[in-house]
Amino acid sequence: MPSYPVNQIRTADEQINILQITDLHLSLPPAAINGDASKLTVCQRNFEAVLQQALNTDIRCDLIMVTGDLVSQVKTALYDYIFAVLQATGIPFVCIAGNHDVTEEDNSELPFMQRTLIAQPADPRLLSRHVIDTDHWQLLLLDSSITGKVAGEITPTDIDWLCERLSVCDKPTLIAVHHHVIPVDSAWIDSHKAENTEDFWQHMAAFEQLKVIISGHVHQEQVRYRQGVTVYSTPSTCYQFQPFEDDFAYAQNVRPGYRWLQLANNGKVASWVERLDT
Ligand SMILES: [Fe+2]
Ligand SMILES: [Fe+2]
Repeated sequence: MPSYPVNQIRTADEQINILQITDLHLSLPPAAINGDASKLTVCQRNFEAVLQQALNTDIRCDLIMVTGDLVSQVKTALYDYIFAVLQATGIPFVCIAGNHDVTEEDNSELPFMQRTLIAQPADPRLLSRHVIDTDHWQLLLLDSSITGKVAGEITPTDIDWLCERLSVCDKPTLIAVHHHVIPVDSAWIDSHKAENTEDFWQHMAAFEQLKVIISGHVHQEQVRYRQGVTVYSTPSTCYQFQPFEDDFAYAQNVRPGYRWLQLANNGKVASWVERLDT
């Protein structure tokens, strides 16, 4: 069993293959805990199916990164279930919080903008600032969530921590964070991206080794570029949002997804999204 959280990864070929899964949005009933698979919610079933499909391919998976919104109801039993499923893979993994991990929605039957948001403490297993060292890469995980809010923030303290890490290690670097740090051209979700991102980008300009940023939150696949950094967003393992819509809209008939990232020993990255088979 890998210890949690993993701090160091070494591989024989010095390449790191990362499986990113995000926005699991699990809610009760945690049926697998009761041993009754017929009671699995759709999001639970999709989470398990995504993991199974991804790990059944012939890509060696060295690390699973879970980038927030693990749940839609902040219940310890749901985290127990998710961590048990991830532990059972035998693969090192790390989890960071999203807004839904620190916020309970009241009136969830109402339209999104009319719901009441109630602050919740994050599950202690979710990482706030975490470093994973590899032969040729530095991986930095950052908690961008704010309790009781949909939007996130890269705080001045976070920026200081990132700058410190990037100052002491010149390996190519990947940052994983839940909230997007670059707009995706959907007004409603862009109003809930990470705040303070201009300050973040200004500070990051000093570090040429920053190569990749991955996030969740937007429930869609996008690739953007800024300051030599490739910025990926990744589909939810459950439901998707309609890209380029200024008002909230689900993308109907778009399959759950996940992302592979292959970090090569020369600092290059290959990355792509896969969709869950029907
Ligand atoms: Fe989400
Ligand atoms: Fe989110």
